[in-house]
Amino acid sequence: MNLKNRLAIVTGGGQGIGKEICLKLVRSEAKVIIFDVNEESFNKTVEEIKAIEGKILAFKVDVTKYEEVKKAVSYVIDKYKGIDILVNNAGIARDSLLLRMKKENWDKVLDVNLTGVFNCLKAVIRCMMKQRYGRIVNISSIIGLRGNIGQANYSAAKAGIIGLTKSAARELGRYGISVNAVAPGFIDTAMTSQLDKEIVEKITSQIPLLRIGKPEEVASLVTYLASEEAGYITGEVIRVDGGMAM
Ligand code: NAI
Repeated sequence: MNLKNRLAIVTGGGQGIGKEICLKLVRSEAKVIIFDVNEESFNKTVEEIKAIEGKILAFKVDVTKYEEVKKAVSYVIDKYKGIDILVNNAGIARDSLLLRMKKENWDKVLDVNLTGVFNCLKAVIRCMMKQRYGRIVNISSIIGLRGNIGQANYSAAKAGIIGLTKSAARELGRYGISVNAVAPGFIDTAMTSQLDKEIVEKITSQIPLLRIGKPEEVASLVTYLASEEAGYITGEVIRVDGGMAM
C-alpha cells in the first residue's frame, strides 16, 4: 500500500497488534502517531521504528479521557494540518464469569474498549469531514460476534464497536470517510500469552488453519483498509481468525 504523506493515529500502538500496525503503516510511508498509556513500551516501539527511518512519534494519551484525547488530537491536527487515518486499537481484557464479574471490571473494559473508540472518533471526524477524506479502522474481535464464556464485558464492548462502526459508516460516508471494523481471532500477543498451554491447544484445535494468528496478519488488513485503494469498503466487519468464527 502507498500511504505517502498520510498521517495516522494508532491507539494502543505501543505493543502487540498496535505495534505491528504502526510498523506496516510506516513501511507504507505514512507518518504515525501513537496514543498509548504505557510510556515504557511505546518509547521502545518508537525507537525501533525510527531505526528503520520511519516517521513516528508517541504521546501518552489515555483513550478513556475525553478531554485528554480532544487536546492531543487538536495538537496533531494543528501541527500536521490534518489527520487521514485513525486506528482504534487500544483494548484491555478483565475476564471472569458473569456471576463473579466485578462492576469495576465491567466499567473499565467498556470504558477503554468502547468509550475510548467513541472519544477518538469524535475528536477526528470534524477535521476529516472538512477534508472530505478519512479512514477509520476499529479493532473489534470475533468475541464481539459470537460471545464467550468469561468475557461478557469484553464481548459487549467489542459488539458495541461493531454497532458504532456501522452507524458511523452511514453518517460519515457522504464526507468521503470510511469506517470499518476488523475482528481478530486468537492472536499471539501479551493479551493471550497468560493462557494455559492446554487451553491454547484446545482453542488451536478448533481453528481451521490449526494455528494462532500473528499480529502482522491483522496489521496487513488494517493497512489495506487505511489506504486509498480500500475507498469503496465501509461499514464492514472483517474477521482475521483463521476461520475460527465462520
Ligand atoms: P496488548 O495488551 O498487547 O496491547 C494493548 C495496547 O493498548 C497496549 O500498548 C496498552 O498500553 C494500550 N492501552 C491499554 N489501555 C489504554 C488506554 N486506556 N489508552 C491508550 N492505550 C491503552 O493487546 P493486543 O493483543 O495487541 O490487542 C490489541 C487490540 O486487538 C485490542 O483492542 C484487543 O481487544 C484486540 N484483539 C486482540 C486479540 C488477541 O488475540 N490478541 C483478539 C481480538 C481482538
